[in-house]
Amino acid sequence: MKTGKGRIAILLSGRGSNFEAIYKNSLKTDSLFEIAVVISDKKKARGLATAGEYGLPAYFIRPRDYLSKHEYEESLISVLEKYNIDLICLAGFMRIISPTLIRRYQNRILNIHPSLLPLFPGLDAQKQAIDAGVTESGCTVHVVDEGVDSGPVIMQAAVNVNKDDTAESLSARILSEEHRIYSEVINLYFLGKLKIEGRKVKILT
Ligand code: GRF
Repeated sequence: MKTGKGRIAILLSGRGSNFEAIYKNSLKTDSLFEIAVVISDKKKARGLATAGEYGLPAYFIRPRDYLSKHEYEESLISVLEKYNIDLICLAGFMRIISPTLIRRYQNRILNIHPSLLPLFPGLDAQKQAIDAGVTESGCTVHVVDEGVDSGPVIMQAAVNVNKDDTAESLSARILSEEHRIYSEVINLYFLGKLKIEGRKVKILT
């Protein structure tokens, strides 16, 4: 059914808690978007099973079935085009995206990362924050470019790092902020309020 809402694709590899939060927000009456398809590179990803339970189109596309990253991403693109996707939301998708996908969806791929970028990119960002002894960390929604967690920052939320925090306790506190700001950014995107100017994203009021 065509509702006129923005159509997003979720790409994930695991638990899928950000996907669940985005899905729940998409059901709100004032939501400007709907999840049109969920794609995973891992057959056993819990998020993929959840998508099935929600009755959403859910695809497992196995990278090793393809000879190259380019061919793999062409296969992703064929699914994204089938579902007329406006915006791709990476939500715990553990692969580096190549120019094949980025150039096809220029400035239309978002990611959430569990640190205040540009600090602590890459894996185990929460542990990196603990090990660095910082007193504040958080999460970042950013535009995906060809680097690792290096694209323009759209929105961040900060949390305190306590002296007795472990990577797990800090992750949990950051995660609830992730669940809040990702949907907020997606709504702003479909309101047309995000203006990307080089390395900076302006939020129009
Ligand atoms: C989150 O911490 C997110 O910031 C990072 O990967 C994790 C995914 O968690 N990119 P989930 O699968 O959404 O629960």
